[in-house]
Amino acid sequence: MGLQGQIIPYKNGEKEEDDDERAGKEISSFPPPPPLHSKFAVVGYALTSKKIKSFLKPKLEGLARNKGILFVAIDQNRPLSDQGPFDIVLHKLTGKEWRQILEDYRRTHPEVTVLDPPDAIQHLHNRQSMLQCVADMNLSNSYGKVGIPKQLVIKKDASSIPGAVAKAGLMLPIVAKPLVADGSAKSHELSLAYDQQSLQKLEPPLVLQEFVNHGGVMFKVYIVGETIKVVRRFSLPDVCKRELSNIAGVFRFPRVSCAAASADNADLDPGVAELPPRPLLEKLARELCHRLGLRLFNLDIIREHGTRDRFYVIDINYFPGYGKMPEYEHIFTDFLLSLVQNQYKKKST
Ligand SMILES: Nc1ncnc2c1ncn2[C@@H]1O[C@H](COP(=O)(O)OP(=O)(O)O)[C@@H](O)[C@H]1O
Ligand SMILES: [Mg+2]
Repeated sequence: MGLQGQIIPYKNGEKEEDDDERAGKEISSFPPPPPLHSKFAVVGYALTSKKIKSFLKPKLEGLARNKGILFVAIDQNRPLSDQGPFDIVLHKLTGKEWRQILEDYRRTHPEVTVLDPPDAIQHLHNRQSMLQCVADMNLSNSYGKVGIPKQLVIKKDASSIPGAVAKAGLMLPIVAKPLVADGSAKSHELSLAYDQQSLQKLEPPLVLQEFVNHGGVMFKVYIVGETIKVVRRFSLPDVCKRELSNIAGVFRFPRVSCAAASADNADLDPGVAELPPRPLLEKLARELCHRLGLRLFNLDIIREHGTRDRFYVIDINYFPGYGKMPEYEHIFTDFLLSLVQNQYKKKST
């Protein structure tokens, strides 16, 4: 497989697609809270330091301030109700305890918008339940068809895999992904199996997916409420029939998605590069927001090579690296303002 020049090495640690260094001002973990003036919309955030660095950049904070939005760090060691008051809580932290704190807070503070509900986020931490909504939707219209690759869940017993794969009629090569997708390095260790026998070398619990040739380019569809932005990224190259009959074994490719370079300015075959039709993406995004109960996520979509309109969603991530989404600062601040305006409207009716 010719990955050279397309996939760059990635650092260890928690998955974060954007790895930019924050220029200038450093954020200490808990700066003194600014005076909370009533004219400001206050957004409390509970994010990892890595996320703060890639997302809460000076440009975003500056723009937000100009639009009347203040970002305030949440102190996880103090009760949430003693902090703020917040109009919005923005979070991406894991752990059962934190989920419980947020659920309790949502119940006792219905006037605060929690982005997003912990239960809904949890749904994306399992690669089987993650794509179920897309499969259920069965989206097909004049713009195209969107599905998921044929897949199979293996909970345990690697020796049963060749039989299970044959029974389910999954075609080789097969992508094996850890069932849990919690953002840890381990959960992004994917493998590509070329032959039936080698499947026994895989380590359950796994989702096994047919590898869909897609011309080595995928689409990242970023969603912020009702706004959608699409970018191209280099992806795994096609596997041809000759390669399949000559190669055996399992090839591991850790964290390939974190390292994939932008393909937006590359000289690509137009049939591969063409973005999925916007009306199709709008329908998909709107429906997924509704079914998943989420407003901040992205989708990895591929187009089956040789077709114009056959698309597959292969991955969904909560609160992705928005630093890579064009104009995210404007989009995000407008989105936060619209939430606050809706809260205000609700209160006054
Ligand atoms: N079914 C598939 N067919 C073809 N390529 C795939 C498939 N699933 C994943 N890939 C490739 O592997 C990469 C990582 O897979 P993904 O499911 O997005 O895992 P991660 O959670 O690590 O981002 C994708 O960006 C794509 O390049
Ligand atoms: Mg991915």
